[in-house]
Amino acid sequence: MQIYLDHGATTPAHPEVIDLMASVMRSQWGNPSSLHWWGERSTMAIERARLQVASLINADPEGIIFTSGGTESDNMAIVGIARQYCTPQHMIISSVEHSAVSLPAHYLERHGWEITRLSVNRQGQVDPAELARSLRPNTVLVSIITAQNEVGTIQPIEKLGQICRHANVLFHTDAVQAIGKIPINVQVLPIDLLSLSAHKFYGTQGIGALYINPLIAPLIANERSLIPLIQGGGQERGYRSGTQAVAAIAGLGLAAELAEGELIAESRRLANLRDRLYALLADIPELVPTGMRGNDRLPHHLSFYHQHIDGRRLVREMNFAGIAISSGSACSSGKSEPSSILLEMGYSPIESRNSIRLTLGKSNNETDIDWTAMVIHQILHRLA
Ligand SMILES: Cc1ncc(COP(=O)(O)O)c(C=O)c1O
Repeated sequence: MQIYLDHGATTPAHPEVIDLMASVMRSQWGNPSSLHWWGERSTMAIERARLQVASLINADPEGIIFTSGGTESDNMAIVGIARQYCTPQHMIISSVEHSAVSLPAHYLERHGWEITRLSVNRQGQVDPAELARSLRPNTVLVSIITAQNEVGTIQPIEKLGQICRHANVLFHTDAVQAIGKIPINVQVLPIDLLSLSAHKFYGTQGIGALYINPLIAPLIANERSLIPLIQGGGQERGYRSGTQAVAAIAGLGLAAELAEGELIAESRRLANLRDRLYALLADIPELVPTGMRGNDRLPHHLSFYHQHIDGRRLVREMNFAGIAISSGSACSSGKSEPSSILLEMGYSPIESRNSIRLTLGKSNNETDIDWTAMVIHQILHRLA
């Protein structure tokens, strides 16, 4: 029996997405910038996808810019906004961002920018009051992850965004893990920029989008422009040059439409499976849950640390048993390095090194959950 419980790393493309992409590659392969019929057919595929992605987050389609994925969208938001300023300013991120945000921020810091990293509590949440205290007259952007990839904690995005709106500071959120799992409505939430990635919701790898709220366009056109990272032929309204990946974009659009249609029911189903697995593992005192519980946690996400066993070892043992999970620790020079996210949440280096993550998805059912719980019991009994 093989069970895939690593949907936070990537999801398999939906069969309908694969079929559509194959058909686009066969019959809509023109260059979308070409003025002839072939070009127009590709443009139609792209514009349809733009509507589908916009609908998923209730955005104005004008605001959707296709990119190569979450990493590029994050870099475009952080570095693109910063490059507008001739002199270094101030930016705020959280201390639990994905490296696609934290490393561009670090890069800016090395070039004279001041970066404030908001602390988090033991569940991984930032405190909106700390954000309000951290704003400065020269703060130009706040970037806070919607839902943390390692521990599944959802941030108080509405409150954080409101604080930024009030202070007239742009607010970006990396929603790569949250899209398709929890409803996100950018007409209601005060979000100016949002990153998403197709391969986390049954599209394919290498395609994503950055949403830029068109209402900030007047600001952007004046003193707060987002300078594109990739310049060239001026595609994507000049924000992201390069001939668009038509088939992958069409696939992203369909994945967004499918995700929108089943979001509520599928999230509820996954949350039930998640809670079933938590309950089945609750009798193992050495396996300690991390992150939030309940509504402030991604519905498909479980995370733990083991009191004695290295997370990477558990991943390997589970892999031998045919079950794919992931660990928060990284490998450096052959040695396990603790998860920086858990360290920031106040866990010890050993606890942080021993962290694991299980992320459920469409293919999983109750049998998978019961089998996984049984395998984990067996492995931990053997390693004890
Ligand atoms: C929170 C978060 N942001 C950004 C990324 C990067 O996205 P991509 O793989 O599309 O570049 C990931 C990928 O795991 C992620 O989890």
